[in-house]
Amino acid sequence: MLKNLLVATGLGLAAIGTAVTVNAAGSSEGHADAMKHMDWSFNGPFGQYDRDAAQRGYQVYKEVCSSCHALDQLAFRHLGDKGAPFFNADFPNPNDNPLVKGFAADWDVPDVDSDDGSAMTRTGIPADNFPPIYENEIAAANANGKAPPDLSLIVKARNGGADYVYSLLLGYDHEAPAEIAESMGAGSYYNPVMEGGVIAMPPQLQDGLLDYEGENAPAATKEQMAYDVTQFLAWSADPKLEQRKRVGFGTMIYLFLLTILLYLSYRQVWKNVKH
Ligand code: HEC
Repeated sequence: MLKNLLVATGLGLAAIGTAVTVNAAGSSEGHADAMKHMDWSFNGPFGQYDRDAAQRGYQVYKEVCSSCHALDQLAFRHLGDKGAPFFNADFPNPNDNPLVKGFAADWDVPDVDSDDGSAMTRTGIPADNFPPIYENEIAAANANGKAPPDLSLIVKARNGGADYVYSLLLGYDHEAPAEIAESMGAGSYYNPVMEGGVIAMPPQLQDGLLDYEGENAPAATKEQMAYDVTQFLAWSADPKLEQRKRVGFGTMIYLFLLTILLYLSYRQVWKNVKH
């Protein structure tokens, strides 16, 4: 009786499991195919960002993405913080870090003329925030069909996180199914990683688009650039990840030692008591 019941429950659960899997696969077949699952260096309890990649990723952001996408949660000095791609122990204050100063100086930032109060732009300094790319959301949408979202937190903001951003950038090589192709207007592109399969962002990466400097720099293939910019954006979405993981590990060790200590004192305290 009991055995029958268990078997029946097991079968029931198995059936539900199959139904759920089939349903998930059926509804997003293109999406599932195009989603790439990468073994990111920052996953896992001891995960860290791939610093070289994140540095190259900043270059990709600057030279490619920044013509449309802002990074409004970041100031230039954040690039030189502890745990950031351009941290340098010789310059614990990132405002003094020459690389960070150089990056800031590559940008014009909005300001107000202190004499007559009129709007003006000046060269960036490390304390400035990354400037907006468009005047406002409407101008951004007018220029691109849809407003390019801010990228500072995008890795956290999308299901699939880093895998999603990476796959999206590489997701343009698929033929649009007829029913989607029919409804696609000018300025829209098929990309099965995007919800609904249609995106207003043209394909961005092609092999050799930019030059990576440095002796050991890899070739700028589109996979490499997608990987690098995703490392950079993963950092920008969670700059304290490494610190958090270190503290978490320290806490585990502390709790472990405390457990041993408590156990030993327990033995000591109850040593002469009969029980
Ligand atoms: C020519 C302008 C342009 C450039 C350059 C550009 N994008 Fe976009 N991007 C867009 C637009 C427009 C959208 C909004 C698309 C939509 O909602 O259909 C977008 C959307 C996105 C999204 C969000 C997609 C989603 O799920 O909503 C990500 C992530 C993204 N871009 C990453 C990048 C990265 C990384 C780069 C640089 C390698 C880049 N983009 C370069 C225009 C651009």
